[in-house]
Amino acid sequence: MVTDDLKLIVNGTSITAEADELIANVIQRSKAPFEPDCLGAFCEGCRVQLVHGRVNSQAPIHRGRVLACAATLECDSEIYIEPAPKVGSIRGHVDSAISLHSELSQIQLVFERPLAWIPGQYFKLLPRGLAPLRLYPSFTLDGGTEFSSLIFLLERGNNPSFETALERGRFAEGKPMRLEGPFGTSFLRREEERLVTICGRGGFSAAWAIAVNSAYGLRERPKTFIFDQLYQAPSFARAFSWLAEHDVAYRFANLSSRCSASFAQNLLAAEGDLNEFDCVHATGSFDFFEKLRSALATIKPVLYLIPSDQALAEAEQLSNMESV
Ligand code: FES
Repeated sequence: MVTDDLKLIVNGTSITAEADELIANVIQRSKAPFEPDCLGAFCEGCRVQLVHGRVNSQAPIHRGRVLACAATLECDSEIYIEPAPKVGSIRGHVDSAISLHSELSQIQLVFERPLAWIPGQYFKLLPRGLAPLRLYPSFTLDGGTEFSSLIFLLERGNNPSFETALERGRFAEGKPMRLEGPFGTSFLRREEERLVTICGRGGFSAAWAIAVNSAYGLRERPKTFIFDQLYQAPSFARAFSWLAEHDVAYRFANLSSRCSASFAQNLLAAEGDLNEFDCVHATGSFDFFEKLRSALATIKPVLYLIPSDQALAEAEQLSNMESV
């Protein structure tokens, strides 16, 4: 009997797959830890490592790391999914919302029980009637956090959903909150490679979470942060003083250039030592990612992408409109 079925080995367990079936659907029949968010190929939350085999992918593949919700199998294959905390829903309330500057706010939420998350992952807040907000847990500028609370730094200028939520008083002290998460595979790992974080427009909250978490948790690991020069604005000065005080190296570059060649030139002028052994976390818009991929095409570092809130909100809106 002829069959088109294929085999996908997921973390050592063999699962039968149909030839045109999305890898994300196959994985969901396994017991592997897999917590996709959008299932629409834009949150970057379902990257899995292709160990062997071949896939057809609608999205770019980074060093064998495939978006499972945008790829099907070409032949029998094997993938590996890194362990991550289980996604859940949790209720809590706003403890404080402090405006650090006109463009930056710090939110502290308190929950009924401790939450597990890995630095670089995000939680999703779903304010009624507004686009979801991705919140990247961090620490306060004074350091420290408590087990059952989460602290987030939010960039205001690039986040209309957050602005509206603030205006409607959703972040007033004591207001109830429900979060889902944690999501994302772009989390910090205890690896040896130099950690390079590249932050484009709208990516500050995620880059900040990586900076602070790595300053506290990965003290010995070499790290470099490159921010779009728009973050040289006075609103962000306090955050950069904090990085300097904690010996976190950072620099600025013009990463808003529309031209790919100028983008690459500006990036490499800011950090000429980028190499294939670096581990790059990049935060920003989809357009920024495209230019970054092109700039890094020959260097080929390990690349983890974290789309900005605004980019995700736009992608979600587009996908909702397409599905109507
Ligand atoms: S779940 Fe695949 S990219 Fe969002």
